[in-house]
Amino acid sequence: MNSINENKIQISKISTSKIESIDFEQLPFGEIFTDYMLTCDFKNEKWGTPTIVPYAPFLMDPSAKVFHYGQAIFEGMKAYKDDNDSVWLFRPEENFERFNKSAVRMAMPEVPESLFLGGLKQLIDLERNWVKKGIENTLYIRPFMIATGAGVIASASNEYRFMILLSPAKSYYSGDVKVIIAEHFSRAANGGIGAAKAAGNYSAQFYPTKLANEKGFQQVIWTDDATHTKLEESGTMNVFFRINDTLYTAPTSERILDGVTRKSLIAIAERDGIKLSIRSVLVSELVEAAKNGTLKEIFGAGTAAVVTIIKGFSYQDEYYELPKIEHSIALDIKNKLTAIQHKLAEDTFKWTVKV
Ligand SMILES: Cc1ncc(COP(=O)(O)O)c(C=O)c1O
Repeated sequence: MNSINENKIQISKISTSKIESIDFEQLPFGEIFTDYMLTCDFKNEKWGTPTIVPYAPFLMDPSAKVFHYGQAIFEGMKAYKDDNDSVWLFRPEENFERFNKSAVRMAMPEVPESLFLGGLKQLIDLERNWVKKGIENTLYIRPFMIATGAGVIASASNEYRFMILLSPAKSYYSGDVKVIIAEHFSRAANGGIGAAKAAGNYSAQFYPTKLANEKGFQQVIWTDDATHTKLEESGTMNVFFRINDTLYTAPTSERILDGVTRKSLIAIAERDGIKLSIRSVLVSELVEAAKNGTLKEIFGAGTAAVVTIIKGFSYQDEYYELPKIEHSIALDIKNKLTAIQHKLAEDTFKWTVKV
């Protein structure tokens, strides 16, 4: 991994920003991008000089390996602006490390920290105006890498492109989420790529999710591929279950993405004395708890929505609705986490990094 001299990142400037034409009150998630993007190519066994260029489409060879064999990985993270106009990242080194783990698993080159974090800081510095103040505003960050080497032979590419895109976002509310527990399809398997943030993990979910949508459910909760008895994760979220006053979440494994939101919520729960157990919850336990009234909450945890409350679940064609509760632990820890991210609460964990 050659390191990048951050001072050398060239910027091709635009003459006028499009920011004035954007309605920051009506932002569809992930569809509007800022003026610039970062791009860097890997060729001849080394990373070249990164550039920051105006956001635009680019040309690729139709035989590029990403199109045929799906060598593609990505990350999702956010920047926040505090009331003093400072811009902050949240645990960015976690995303950097996870990106390189994904790269190794997909036989792609690792990126140097100076490119991932150094490049990201320069790009955000240039796009500060796109990060708006207020707890409902964030700038979503999408680093990714694709195989650009040409040729349809089924082998790892020897050329790649790393890029970072930025997209302003409003706090994401997905509405009432009802889920189906997977009985047949699997997202990941032991020895597979489930713990990598690889594009194929997402496309593999689309068909079962479409079937769930047709039945009126928004997401699938994946179970372990071998027995379909253990609850694992959902869409782009890790999942938590509250039975009585204890939170349960599955341990990370080869089949589960090691989510930054998940580990941050666990740390907050531990700090604040919320009962927590990191172990696989069985589908049978969940059904039993729903039947006897001890199941209080189910929620997803991930960067996009932070916490998504799940209203009910279906298993073997039986629907179980969650009870209305007075005090939601999910919302409580969500508020604590977003307060840290937006610098409204003391960051006792030293998670936030100034740009
Ligand atoms: C499959 C999967 N699980 C969990 C998560 C949550 O991870 P994080 O909290 O780091 O966003 C994501 C999203 O990034 C994901 O894609």
